[in-house]
Amino acid sequence: MFNYTQYDESQVDFIEIAPLSELPPGERLFVEIEGQPIVLFNIAGRVFAIGDVCTHDNGPLGDGEVEGHEVICPRHGARFDLRTGQALLLPAVVDIPAYPVRVREGQIEVGIPK
Ligand code: FES
Repeated sequence: MFNYTQYDESQVDFIEIAPLSELPPGERLFVEIEGQPIVLFNIAGRVFAIGDVCTHDNGPLGDGEVEGHEVICPRHGARFDLRTGQALLLPAVVDIPAYPVRVREGQIEVGIPK
């Protein structure tokens, strides 16, 4: 799985998601972009976007608890870094996509590879 956070911005199309006011700190927002389920987290004022499907057995990551910058899969407990998508704990061994996020004129935008 690619780590989209390492893409050059010129290689992605930024898609407007929602006003930042709809995603206060500590909250999450579920969206679908080009058929891909994506969940956005606001952690202490910074927004992160990851694929909402666990690479172990398709668990709903967006329903998992967040500790620091890690999300814990509610199905079997795998952990992923929200900033990079890196799989941090078994049983997951494959990273999830982590998409670049920016806020322009109060709107959250997520970058999808061209
Ligand atoms: S489905 Fe996520 S840890 Fe198994």
